[in-house]
Amino acid sequence: MNRVLDKVCIVTGSAQGIGRAIVETYAAEGAKMIIAVDMQEASYNESNIRAVTLDTTDKEGVISLIKSVWDEFGRLDVIVNNAGITRDALCNKMTDDNWDLVMDVNLKAPHYIIAAATPYLMEQGSGSIINLSSVSGVYGNIGQLNYAASKAGLIGMTKTWTKELSRKGAKIRCNCIAPGYVETPMIKTVPEEIIEKIKNKILFKELVQPIDVAYAALYLASEESRFITGQTLEISGGWLM
Ligand SMILES: NC(=O)c1ccc[n+]([C@@H]2O[C@H](COP(=O)([O-])OP(=O)(O)OC[C@H]3O[C@@H](n4cnc5c(N)ncnc54)[C@H](O)[C@@H]3O)[C@@H](O)[C@H]2O)c1
Repeated sequence: MNRVLDKVCIVTGSAQGIGRAIVETYAAEGAKMIIAVDMQEASYNESNIRAVTLDTTDKEGVISLIKSVWDEFGRLDVIVNNAGITRDALCNKMTDDNWDLVMDVNLKAPHYIIAAATPYLMEQGSGSIINLSSVSGVYGNIGQLNYAASKAGLIGMTKTWTKELSRKGAKIRCNCIAPGYVETPMIKTVPEEIIEKIKNKILFKELVQPIDVAYAALYLASEESRFITGQTLEISGGWLM
């Protein structure tokens, strides 16, 4: 299948976990080029994946990356705001530094990226923006006040981008994916007994795999979802409150 045939895509946080699965899925599905952005260095064998080492909170770096992609390809079809971090603590133990860091990476950086891309997307008149939220942002989660706020904020930003970017008739779609617990390096520090408790809260009694999220990101990038915008797609195997 070639569900993202000839599309030019940017995926952040792509060196590992969910981002890497998205990049590899887009590459296999015919993307012209995937700009795989991460603050860690990464390498890929596929000729249609280009690794770029960049911290997405670097506003000037983001602006110059987006411009360079537009100058080179004259297109920007898909942007996946996937880079995200956790700095968990109970609400009365949450430090200002960890509050600010999570907001900077999870909220401000996607804002920098979409603000930089907006003039190009508007000129093009199309595009698909996919933002990695979380069930924590939808339902809340103990110990994740900052993370839950950032992921709920991303849902609000997605709905706002949907309205703003389609004002002049542009078909720029903006959607969120809200995964449950996904088996990636992000959750490697969670103790095994907590993982077992988490699995018991999932209807399917298993963690989500990165590829499950990548397939959703593929669908939202493809023409098959051309009338879907402003939505949050939960991928959790059934998350029980
Ligand atoms: N794993 C889960 O259970 C889960 C659940 C729901 C949502 N999510 C969200 O999905 C996204 C991906 O999660 P993951 O589990 O693959 O995480 P991960 O920690 O395994 O990978 C995240 C990647 O993002 C990169 N990154 C972090 N900050 C960055 C920055 N400022 N600039 C550039 N790159 C940066 C890291 O270097 C890393 O390669 C995140 O937004 C996360 O919040 C994850």
